[in-house]
Amino acid sequence: MKNKYNINHVAIIMDGNGRWAQQRGHKRTFGHEHGVEAVHSVVEGAGEMYIPYLTLYAFSTENWNRPKEEIDVLMRLISKAIADELDNLMANNVRVLTTGRIEELPRESREDLERVIETTRNNTGLTLVIALSYSGRSELVDTAKKIAKQAADGLLNPDDISESTIQNNLYHPEIPDVDLMIRTGGDLRVSNFLLWEIAYAELFFSPILWPDFRKEHLREILEQFTSRERRFGKTGEQVRAH
Ligand code: FPP
Repeated sequence: MKNKYNINHVAIIMDGNGRWAQQRGHKRTFGHEHGVEAVHSVVEGAGEMYIPYLTLYAFSTENWNRPKEEIDVLMRLISKAIADELDNLMANNVRVLTTGRIEELPRESREDLERVIETTRNNTGLTLVIALSYSGRSELVDTAKKIAKQAADGLLNPDDISESTIQNNLYHPEIPDVDLMIRTGGDLRVSNFLLWEIAYAELFFSPILWPDFRKEHLREILEQFTSRERRFGKTGEQVRAH
């Protein structure tokens, strides 16, 4: 563990962009544009706090049901924001990955993202994972398909399937479990995000709408996280004895 918070992986559901814009009399997409400033601040903060992995929920599989205009703006905004940040990501030693059904994204967005992934692949600081066309259930469906194919090909006996078989067939088996999941925007929901990976995560809900969220808010939540006792099914006495 590289940081004083004992954290490997923070995941954030960036919620509240639409409401932030509507409160100001603007279209929802105005909120997404300002959400980019919050992403910038939080990525910078996570690096400064030596967090190894940060996963951001940028676009869920359910988001494909939004009006086409909003989808188009979001797709362009997300890939462009990341591509525009390339120099900054390199300067901060950030490695970028994506997770989700990336093949469903428009070709232009995919190409922008692939360029950033390729350019940053040897960076050794924060790993920033952008969840795009992602849902926890579809990740588990895709995982089940991979495992079923191995069994059908005679490479795996179904009786040997264990938790590690599932872990090893996720989109990113190498990424550690989520320690802390944050949702902004005031709703108390998990919304199909990283369902397998959050099994033992601590959950924090912030009333702040995403465009107003900054690294100072992340720091405050990390400070609170350190005072929670994580028992992983054990008793408090057992945990404190170690
Ligand atoms: C949820 O707010 C937010 C999203 C669906 C998109 C998040 C995207 C960004 C912040 C753009 C930049 C991202 C990156 C990774 C550069 P909402 O629209 O559901 O808000 P509401 O709950 O107020 O309607």
